[in-house]
Amino acid sequence: MRYIGTDIEAIVNKLNISYTDEGPDDAPVIILIHGFPFNKSMWNKQIEMLIEHYRVIAYDVRGHGNSAAGTEDFSIELFVNDLLGLMDILKIEKAMLCGLSMGGYIALNAIENFPKRFNALILCDTNCAADTPEAKEKRMMTIENIGKYGIENYASESIKNLFAPESFVTNKEKIVGIKEMIMETKAQTLCSTLHALSMRKETCNKLREISVPVLLMVGKEDQITPPAAARLMQKNIRGSVLQIIEHAGHLSNIENSYEFNNQLEKFVSSVNQQSEKHMKRDRLASEVINSRKVAKREKLEKDLNSKEPEHPKIEE
Ligand code: MLT
Repeated sequence: MRYIGTDIEAIVNKLNISYTDEGPDDAPVIILIHGFPFNKSMWNKQIEMLIEHYRVIAYDVRGHGNSAAGTEDFSIELFVNDLLGLMDILKIEKAMLCGLSMGGYIALNAIENFPKRFNALILCDTNCAADTPEAKEKRMMTIENIGKYGIENYASESIKNLFAPESFVTNKEKIVGIKEMIMETKAQTLCSTLHALSMRKETCNKLREISVPVLLMVGKEDQITPPAAARLMQKNIRGSVLQIIEHAGHLSNIENSYEFNNQLEKFVSSVNQQSEKHMKRDRLASEVINSRKVAKREKLEKDLNSKEPEHPKIEE
């Protein structure tokens, strides 16, 4: 049975995972994975737009939002395992997958290891490269600073890099919302996730194997995963499309949700039309095969009947 709503709990890999599940029952499924250190509410504007035509699942990665953290060390592989676990529990065989930044790292790892479970990919403000030694070092320093100076200080420092300069003038409320979201995340989760991000493997070498439609989006002013990183991915993913989102930094879905949603809507509906076309083509092909089988059987029966021996003549 499907539960519909915004803060549903499922036990995934023995852990309480909080998710939203909205939209029509039989609609194509799209799963949204948030960035670090946010939660599923960062997708509210996208969920609002998508639920008319799609079944939309957004969940809190373990430790974030309302999901439990568990006791295992965090890793991208563990997060992917949770994603697949949630899909299994919700009986979702195949879905379109959309991830922002850390969500994109999870999505890229998931499609590399479970390609059959996804029929489209939307990669937002993300990167296929692993952390450089300097980036790893910086994350270790951040972990140390969270211990020394606390979460509020961490949140204030983080938001400086998250947004386009103009957002500090035009998107003040959204920035306050994001700061609150960061401050609601426990220090333990911040540190474990920073460690997991620093240890993640690169996925660039596998991009050529991706065979589903891919949309890449990146804020023009993204300083964390800049447009150059998206261009490199686009070059290596066959048939992929890149959209640079104006007036946005790293959180393009929040800073310019209007443009982000336009591109997202266009992409998912084209994926959907394509898969409807394929389904129609497959249905037609199987109808043709069936009618050929029937015609062959009818001809065989007719031939057999025409060859039946006549009744022997009885000599008088
Ligand atoms: C995110 O938004 O998920 C983070 O910026 C990812 C990262 O720090 O690599």
